[in-house]
Amino acid sequence: MTTPTIKAVIPAAGLGTRFLPATKAMPKEMLPVVDKPAIQYVVEEAVGAGIDDILVIIGRNKNALANHFDRVTELEHTLEQKGDHGKLARVNETSALADIHFVRQGDPKGLGHAVLRARRHVGKETFAVMLGDDLIDARDPLLSRMIDVSLSRSATVVALMEVDPSQIHLYGCADIEPTDEADVVTIKGLVEKPSASEAPSNLAIIGRYVLKPEIFDVLEQTPPGKGGEIQLTDALEELAGDSEIAGPVLGVVFTGRRYDTGDRLDYLKSSIQLALDRDDLGPQLGDWIKQLAPML
Ligand code: G1P
Repeated sequence: MTTPTIKAVIPAAGLGTRFLPATKAMPKEMLPVVDKPAIQYVVEEAVGAGIDDILVIIGRNKNALANHFDRVTELEHTLEQKGDHGKLARVNETSALADIHFVRQGDPKGLGHAVLRARRHVGKETFAVMLGDDLIDARDPLLSRMIDVSLSRSATVVALMEVDPSQIHLYGCADIEPTDEADVVTIKGLVEKPSASEAPSNLAIIGRYVLKPEIFDVLEQTPPGKGGEIQLTDALEELAGDSEIAGPVLGVVFTGRRYDTGDRLDYLKSSIQLALDRDDLGPQLGDWIKQLAPML
């Protein structure tokens, strides 16, 4: 059972430099994946897990994000007059999804710093953090499982996924031991973006967290880490080392479908995979790929 008091925080203040020049005037979270901006998938995932209050941490170019989740009365009016109810519904669905709030990060000092900006909005409740680079397939509910584990064990919960050891330097990495539940592990330690030889495992943090409010005090004290940024991973490592602070830190090991939109190649692959899955686009796109493949 999930609870409606859980809020979600979506950090969306990164510079998106891997996608320049597309992200020069637009946040990377607004890049379309098929026909929806990446952040809309994340908001829909939160809503699917029973969350109806979402705080987006924004940087520069905030307008596109705020506008996307707002009403557009002129457009609604035009579509209404044309009687185009299909498109009207598509326009309206984003403004009706959830109660969405925005706060600016100010100085971009890292993910930990972005999460700290949510303190006032979140208050003293458990909350979710969802990163837009990782899209989780709606058919494989991860977040609701993490919320259940967090509430039933009074724990901080991080989503983990096995990755190829050659990729672990791109992620936070967990040192773990098993629990009595197959998909739940106890996290003994965490390292942000270790080299393959330093990595304690091949379990990577994917961008979903269920955090307890004690994380804020820890983040206040967390010095800059990897890349000179305040790292959420470092604050979680502190919690994992002392269960007196906020109870255990657990991992939910995800084996479902995840689409990585973090770099250009993965973004292209994600768009194609998601389009292939759609009834309106999949069959024709699949035929075209089959025709193209022998020519490559
Ligand atoms: C962030 C976190 C990292 C995590 C990753 C998941 O890194 O710092 O621990 O594994 O998200 O996507 P980023 O990708 O923002 O560099």
